[in-house]
This record gives sequence, structure tokens and C-alpha cells, in this order.
Amino acid sequence: MKAVILVGGFGTRLRPLTLTTPKNLLPVGHVPMVERVIGHLAQHGVTEAVLSLGYKPDTFLEAYPDGTCAGVELHYAVEDEPLDTAGAIRFAAGEAGIDERFVVINGDVLTDLDVTRLIRFHDASGAEATIALHTVEDPSRYGVVVTDVAGQVEAFIEKPPADEAPSNAINAGTYVLEPSVLGRIPVGRKVSVERETFPGLVEDGSLYALDGNAYWLDAGTPETYLQANLDLLPAEGSSVHPEAFVADSAHVERSVVGAGASIAEDATLTEAVVLDGATIEAGARVHRSIVGAGATVRAGAELLDLTVIGADVDIEPSARLTGERVPADS
Ligand code: GDD
Ligand code: MG
Repeated sequence: MKAVILVGGFGTRLRPLTLTTPKNLLPVGHVPMVERVIGHLAQHGVTEAVLSLGYKPDTFLEAYPDGTCAGVELHYAVEDEPLDTAGAIRFAAGEAGIDERFVVINGDVLTDLDVTRLIRFHDASGAEATIALHTVEDPSRYGVVVTDVAGQVEAFIEKPPADEAPSNAINAGTYVLEPSVLGRIPVGRKVSVERETFPGLVEDGSLYALDGNAYWLDAGTPETYLQANLDLLPAEGSSVHPEAFVADSAHVERSVVGAGASIAEDATLTEAVVLDGATIEAGARVHRSIVGAGATVRAGAELLDLTVIGADVDIEPSARLTGERVPADS
């Protein structure tokens, strides 16, 4: 079975981390997001994955030089310009010669969804397309879905205003599609699967949905990217890469420290993500914040409340940053 993995977006909400590394290659618990996504699909029978690429495509080829990821054979479909989600699916499916039922996933979704069950439900209903759902408190930053008791979708509304969402069931970003869906996607322009293709399928009664009742997180914002890392920690513990250095007097609590990173004496990390090769100097403090690869946080500096430091940035001694992004977003 083949799968299209959407990984071509700019990752704007995760800047400045994504200025150097595409969102889907950022590590979650030391493993790139896309590798976790593909590893999960492999457990459900996916043997070939098409990476739908646009932004910084070369970094994916460099990350997986032998053309496999988590034991799955990779194809690469590189867009000349962003085609948006449906355009990207059509282009990637074409490049990989997909002509039978296939799976699509947003490459920033971390989930233990039972994809096999979703496929069975899809086959049983005879739908052209089936989407996994997840229930959230505030659906406004997602695609909001209304179904009937049989799971037939009655409405799909992408990112409605908070007070206008008709349900708490959201599009969880995993789809099972018949190849006939590809023929519904016009070529030569941007097409959004959420704003155009799914609403069209709803009109024809051929879109179904099933709540996954699973762990689910879209790791595409600083808050959820941090959460994704914390969710994988052992109970009460931290995750320090074997090739990282942590001084005896440093305090590391509920944090992830990447390969080659260095945490100096009396530094404090609480719910922090310190990416590969970053340096936290003596007495510095990082709380609920993310330090990009190769960055340096000088002695005594404090990073608090979802501060995000870009790769190779140098934070001056005793700086105090709360909820800031360095360099500031452009
Ligand atoms: N190849 C390609 N080309 N990929 C793209 C493009 C494009 O033009 N635009 C976005 N993508 C990729 C992104 O890299 C990402 O992995 C995926 O498509 C989804 O884009 P996001 O930017 O993360 O979308 P979102 O999180 O705002 O909303 C989507 O996901 C939600 C669930 O996580 C929508 O599908 C919502 O309906 C859904 O609820
Ligand atoms: Mg997303």
C-alpha cells in the first residue's frame, strides 16, 4: 500500500526553527517527525511513501540518502511552486503512479490512530474518501466535521470562527482515498483538499469519517511541538541523548536534550527542548522553551514561556526572554 505524506509547507508557525529545518524534519524525542509518521504507517501495511515536497526538498533527500525511512521505500515529488494540499496530493500521486486506494497524512500529525481500522471502515462504506476525526475543545484552528450516525460527512468547514464551529470533531489529517478522488482535483492551480475537494465530496455524499479515539497531536506550533516532545518522555523523567553532555550540578527536569548538546554547571532546564549541538552555559535557565540546533544560551540567561531560539543564534549573558522568538519573526 502506498501513502502520500504532505511535508511541503513552510512551517511558518514554527519559525525561526523552520528557517533552517523544515517542520517535518524537526526531531520529536530525537527522531524526525516525518520518521515517526512513516514508522506508524508502516505498522499498518504501508510499504511505499511519497514525500510531497516543496519547501527545502533537498534536506529530506539528505536526511534519508538511501531512499528508505523507517523501513519504507521513499518516492519524492517536488513541486515547483506550492500547490496547496489537494494539488500536492494529485501531483505526488501522479509522480508515484498511484492507481489504487491509498493513504494520505499531514506530516506534522503524531498519532497512534488505528489506520487499519480506518481502512476497513472505508472499504465497508464504499466511500470515495474517508477521514479520521479527533475531538478537541477548541476546533477553530482545524477542519471541523459534522457526520450522521453512519459516519457520512454532512459538513466540512476549514478553520471556522471559534463561535461558529458546528461540532468539536476535527479533521485529524489522515485520509483513505480512492484514486477517483484524484480526478476531482483540477490541475494547474492551487487546490485545497480542505476548502474545495472535501466540500465537493460532501455534496456528492461520498465522504465518510471515523473518530480515531487515539493519541493525537498536530505538532505544528511551538506549544504543540514542545508538548509532542514532553508526551514521549518516560514517567517523571527526561530524555538526554547519549551523545549530549550534562554537568553534574545542572538540573534537568521533564526536558529533551539532543545529540551533541551541552548543559553547563548550575543550568536549569524544565520542560525544555534543547536541539542538537546547542549550548546552555552556566546558570542559564530554560523553561517551557525551545533552543534550536547549534544555538548558544550564554551564562545566566533566562528563556521562559514558549521562547523559540533559531539555529546557531547566540543569546547574550543574563538576557531575559519571555514568549519571544529570536530572530524575531519576519
Ligand atoms: N507539498 C505540499 N504543498 N505540502 C503542503 C502544502 C503545499 O502547498 N501546504 C501545506 N502542506 C503540508 C504541510 O507541510 C503539512 O504537513 C500539511 O500539509 C498540513 O498543513 P498545515 O499547515 O500543518 O495545516 P494545518 O495544521 O493548519 O491544518 C491541517 O491539519 C489539521 C490537522 O492537523 C488541515 O488539514 C486541517 O483540516 C486539519 O484539522
Ligand atoms: Mg498542521
